[in-house]
Amino acid sequence: MTTQAPQDASPSRELLSDLFPGARLIVATNRAPFRLKTGVGGQPIWERPAGGVTAALDPLLRQTGGLWVAAEPGNPQELRVPPEDPSYDVAVLGIPKEVYRGYYTGYANSGLWPLCHNLVERAHFRSSDWVAYRQVNRQYAARIAAEARATDLVWVHDYQLALVPGYLRQFGYEGPIAVFWHIPWPPTVVLRLIPERKLLLQGLLEADWIGFQTQESVDAFLAAAKRDLGARSSRSSQGVTLHHQGHVTRLASVPISIDVQHVEDIARTEYTENLRQRLQRRWQIGPDQVLLLGVDRLDYTKGIPARLDGFARLLSRYPSLKGKVRFLQIAVPTRTEIQDYRRLAAAVRRRVAAINRSFGEPGWRPVRLIEHNLRLEQLVALYRLADVAVVSSLYDVLNLVAKEYVAARIEGGGSLCLSETAGAYQELRAAFPLSPLSSERIAESMARAIFASPAERRERMAALRDAVRRNTVETWLSRVLLGVRGSLDQLSGLKETPV
Ligand code: G6P
Repeated sequence: MTTQAPQDASPSRELLSDLFPGARLIVATNRAPFRLKTGVGGQPIWERPAGGVTAALDPLLRQTGGLWVAAEPGNPQELRVPPEDPSYDVAVLGIPKEVYRGYYTGYANSGLWPLCHNLVERAHFRSSDWVAYRQVNRQYAARIAAEARATDLVWVHDYQLALVPGYLRQFGYEGPIAVFWHIPWPPTVVLRLIPERKLLLQGLLEADWIGFQTQESVDAFLAAAKRDLGARSSRSSQGVTLHHQGHVTRLASVPISIDVQHVEDIARTEYTENLRQRLQRRWQIGPDQVLLLGVDRLDYTKGIPARLDGFARLLSRYPSLKGKVRFLQIAVPTRTEIQDYRRLAAAVRRRVAAINRSFGEPGWRPVRLIEHNLRLEQLVALYRLADVAVVSSLYDVLNLVAKEYVAARIEGGGSLCLSETAGAYQELRAAFPLSPLSSERIAESMARAIFASPAERRERMAALRDAVRRNTVETWLSRVLLGVRGSLDQLSGLKETPV
């Protein structure tokens, strides 16, 4: 079944050509939106990696066209995607395996990722990883600089690619550069633990515009640029601007979102409804049964162990729920070369087995763990089947699963338990809140969702749906494009007042 966005509406394409006439959009991310493998019989197999960044950008590129640059260990690939209706190009840089390990497993995911999530004890910085990180960032910049004209728009994403803007300028690219930082920017006291923080900041400040998910991240970045680089700042009605070595960079807080319409369209298909019914029969979910659902990458920032503990508490506290309630956890493996991730996977499996051993009865297995990636159509069917979605991330700067669940509930059913520390909670206040490190609070939140009256559930879901529809991926993109345009126009003379 195909999942392309509706072809008749292209507001993103129109906006891009209004604000940047003649520009080609060149996007750089670590992950490619598609991967092409060869099956045993030689047939092509398309894969889509999991992750919020690619999920958010793919629908945009389908509209605007352009080039998406990504990296993989091994051989390079040049693709036209999506396979069912090609509309943009993907250049996958082939990186030697050892170098990729230093860049991705090492610097990006054993260093920056835990540190930016304030998990300082998990973070390690090795000089050899830094060399690899620089090398891969340079390779991205070289590839982009070879293609980009000054009238194009280069848009660099996330912590894996912080040095790309700086290298692009070194390669002589003078056109606009936007950066979007998808994860938290850490407070200065934590940032100071990164040995190369000044070089990271300098690289980023060669961009014209940097977007973050929260105002807290903007403020932390501003403080770091002032303190570590001596950058000056000014404020206008459009936000904060940093001045550093003759270059001007505007900062903005613009939380990302999902393609709401696309999820709703999938939710309406017969395919989704049939799949929902099939799953309901296969798992024997009767009318008096309650299904709770968690969907995450298997990452320690997602709070999966405490969530399972919360479910176990729910079962001990409410014996009446025995035989009636089940928890389905989709946990997509990621970064498995890193020991912390392998340990987490083992801990999750152990907990699932322990809960099933202690509480299970013939015909009732309380927890089911699925450890692989699902297609969006399959997820939407699950979202529509689950009575309660549980998102209990410790420090997730946004969380798109929460928004996808709400978008999938077109008929207004279902409930969401959401961590107060997930960025999405700022918008989704009608969720049942939970405190992610307390299994008692998690159990309480689950119980509130399960025992709430149908009227309360509907009212909350209606408010959640309003919130999700107010800020879609289209809204996000327009705010980004307007921000970048504003930042460039400022160079030609907007008045600013020093902070
Ligand atoms: C987060 C990051 C992305 C990353 C994704 C998946 O959403 O912000 O940059 O691509 O996780 O992680 P992975 O390491 O599996 O690509």
